[in-house]
Order: sequence, then structure tokens, then C-alpha cells
Amino acid sequence: MNAPRIPIALGAVARTLLVPLWARAEETRRADGVLRDPHADAIVRALDFDFALLREAQASQLGCCVRAALVDGWVRDFLTAHPAGTVIELGVGLNSRSERLDNGTARWIELDLPDVTALRARFFAPHERRTLVAASITDRASLDALRAHAAGPCMVVSEGVLVYLDAPSVRGVFEGLRAALPGASFVFDAMTPPVLRFQGAHDAMRHFEARFTWSVSHPRDVERFADGVSLERTHSFYDLLYAHPHRLPRWMRAAGPVVSRAWPAVRGCYTINLARLGPAR
Ligand SMILES: C[S@@+](CC[C@H](N)C(=O)[O-])C[C@H]1O[C@@H](n2cnc3c(N)ncnc32)[C@H](O)[C@@H]1O
Repeated sequence: MNAPRIPIALGAVARTLLVPLWARAEETRRADGVLRDPHADAIVRALDFDFALLREAQASQLGCCVRAALVDGWVRDFLTAHPAGTVIELGVGLNSRSERLDNGTARWIELDLPDVTALRARFFAPHERRTLVAASITDRASLDALRAHAAGPCMVVSEGVLVYLDAPSVRGVFEGLRAALPGASFVFDAMTPPVLRFQGAHDAMRHFEARFTWSVSHPRDVERFADGVSLERTHSFYDLLYAHPHRLPRWMRAAGPVVSRAWPAVRGCYTINLARLGPAR
């Protein structure tokens, strides 16, 4: 007999974790996948949610995975340089990056809202190098507390998270992290204002209540958010996506090159970025 499926009791923003989770599960079933995540596949099968409603969201499915694969690469580089460092995943959702990349010596701190950590705890067991934190990143004291769990150099990752905050809260996250973890690297994604205006047409988000609320004209704008923050790398999501044109719906394959020639700024509409949170103290 099949085990009963696990119900999902999540708030509107927390529910968005289902999209990248589903995306990684789908990718794992492909022979030509850009990443493999057997945990995502197992979790999708266990949850009581009709993932079939996302089946048309081909671009988001690929998009979540090329983004995750890029970030996996940055985390891998960090762990090569600092094998006993700490990776802090803000808004971790049901991401199994620690399973994908653990090297046996790193520390992992995984933070999300309490409804998410309650669900996450059903699938991921803590261990002496992995800490699950139930908190909001808008709570300054929770960012300060990260320092106590961390050891050695830190890389902080927020993937698909800041875009759900308002502008003062995002600034507060940069200020709080800069103060708590000076010298750490910080991975974040950022949208420009037009993406927010056209989000009603988003292939996956139109099935969800949550809305993107934070945008910047250029990811470099975050350098003004806290003293000493510097943008070290920025990667175009468009370029990541269009590196796999055969995976995109036919209309996108045709329209993308035309639009990007007429409006080159489209390549910078959504970026995945790596910043340094000031010099280490
Ligand atoms: C689109 S999901 C991304 C999940 C995960 N990073 C991934 O890539 O699979 C957004 C996540 O951000 C979390 N989140 C949103 N606002 C948050 C906040 N204020 N504090 C902590 N987590 C938050 C949500 O609960 C959710 O898990």
C-alpha cells in the first residue's frame, strides 16, 4: 500500500518553494539534465500537491535548474577553497544543495520561515554539521544569530528569495548580513522593474498567489545598501536559459533572439549575482 501523501500547509510566499523543487525533480528524470537531485524527485512523489498544473512551465522548469546549477558551481568553488567553511542557505525551501554538494567537512545552516522548516524537517535530518533555523530574514536578530552557528569563511546563498521582499527589507538583509558576517560572499538573484510589471504572464507564478515585489535597475545598486558591499559577478539568466534553446517552447525560441536584438537590456532583466559583504574584520 502507498504511504498517504504529506499535506502542504504553507503560506503564499512559502508555497513558491514547490516550483524549484518540481523543476529539479523533473530535471533528474531527464538523461540530458543540467543537474541531478534524487531527493527532489522523492519529495515531489511524497507531497500531496498536483504538480501537473506546472507541466506547461517549461521555461521556468529549465530556468530554476540552470540557476541552481550555476549556484551549485559557485558553492563548489567556495568549498574547494574553504573545505571547512560554512554555507548559509537563506530561504532554503526544500532545496537539497547540502546533499548535492556536501564534502564531509563543511557546515550548513539552512534557514526558512517556520511553516517551511516544519515541512523540511520531515525530509532532511539535522546532523552535527547541519543546522535548521526557523526564522525570517527580515528579523535582524536572526541574521545576527547566524554568526554563532557559523565557523570559518562563509558563503550565504539566497536563491529566489529576496524577490519576495520589499525594498527596505532587502536593504535590511544586506545591512544585517554585512554586520553579522563581514567578508562573506552573498549569492542573490535580482529582477529589473519591467519583470515585475510583466509577471502576470510568468508560466509558473501565475498558478501561485505570491508576487515578486523587489526590483533594482542594476544588481550593482546593492552596493549602496551597506558599507563595503561589492558586486563580484553577475550572470544573465537569459543567457543561461538560451544556452539550451531546444528545451524552450517554440515561441520563445523564435522570439528570444529577435527581442534581445531589438532590446538588448532583456539580457540583464534577471540576474544571478555574487557579492562580497565588505572586507573581513
Ligand atoms: C521560490 S522559493 C526558493 C526555495 C529555495 N531557495 C530553492 O531554490 O529551492 C522561496 C523561498 O524563500 C522563502 N522565504 C521567503 N521570504 C522569506 C523570509 N522573509 N524569511 C525566510 N525565508 C523566506 C520561502 O519560504 C521559500 O522557501
